[in-house]
Amino acid sequence: MSMADPASPASPANPASPASPASPASPASPAQKLLEVRDLRKAFGGGDGATEALRGVSFDCYGGEFLGIMGASGSGKTTLLNCVATTLRPTSGTVLLQGTDISAFSNAQLSDYRGSRIGYLFQGYELLDSLTGSENIILPLAIHNEQATVISSRLSELAAFFEIEDVLEKFPAQMSGGQKQRVAAARALIGRPDIVLTDEPTGALDTRSARTLMEKLALLNEQERTTILLVTHDANAASFCSRILFIQDGVIFHELRRQAPGEERADYYQRILAVMTHLNGGSANVL
Ligand SMILES: Nc1ncnc2c1ncn2[C@@H]1O[C@H](COP(=O)(O)OP(=O)(O)O)[C@@H](O)[C@H]1O
Ligand SMILES: [Mg+2]
Repeated sequence: MSMADPASPASPANPASPASPASPASPASPAQKLLEVRDLRKAFGGGDGATEALRGVSFDCYGGEFLGIMGASGSGKTTLLNCVATTLRPTSGTVLLQGTDISAFSNAQLSDYRGSRIGYLFQGYELLDSLTGSENIILPLAIHNEQATVISSRLSELAAFFEIEDVLEKFPAQMSGGQKQRVAAARALIGRPDIVLTDEPTGALDTRSARTLMEKLALLNEQERTTILLVTHDANAASFCSRILFIQDGVIFHELRRQAPGEERADYYQRILAVMTHLNGGSANVL
């Protein structure tokens, strides 16, 4: 099934609006800028040994987008995502979430941001071994003192969506890699975050599990308009994104957009490979 590009900033603003019954100002209008990254720079170390991991990265992520950042190993993807997640402080530049500079957050705002406004899905699952699947998933809500009925209905909804009902009572050691990652995805989503940040979520998965995970994320984006920012070196994973920014040596140098409506994913994948091949002297270098 083709994926529309609901968040495309280039799409006309609500073409059917004059005749349609007026809805109150929607909190998630299609072209709302959720994230604005401006001239982000990050240097590690100092003097001669300094590494400039980010050298002035600027982009916007719109509400409802499935935005990919693609680049070879060492290009600065993880550094970028960690700056957005506030687990790493940039050397300079700003990240605005709905117009507010996240570096200016108070401690309370920062804890709300990390705890409820972003969901994080890691390459290595990061599940707690001593907790069952469902306990892992609801942990973020339990910490926030959410009502039991709310927790249980959201848990059932996500468990059905990610097809992990049969591992909810199992421990991570009893799950396959794909199941662990879908449990981790449910955990990232349980608090209905404004944006899901994910770093190489398919990196530890076999091809089939990787595909299942990406299909689920794409469906979630399409059906619930969940905003996702994914960084990856994997063209296959990137081909599920509605738009892809390419990063090399800490700088964004190219953008591809899945042609809406209906560009086949296989064709989009070929266009992604062409960019990587052209700029890296061969897709084999994209590791
Ligand atoms: N904590 C760190 N200390 C020093 N250098 C780092 C650190 N983290 C990343 N780097 C360097 O920054 C560059 C970008 O790294 P990273 O963001 O991890 O790239 P990617 O995720 O695209 O593989 C690399 O040259 C890497 O070696
Ligand atoms: Mg990385």
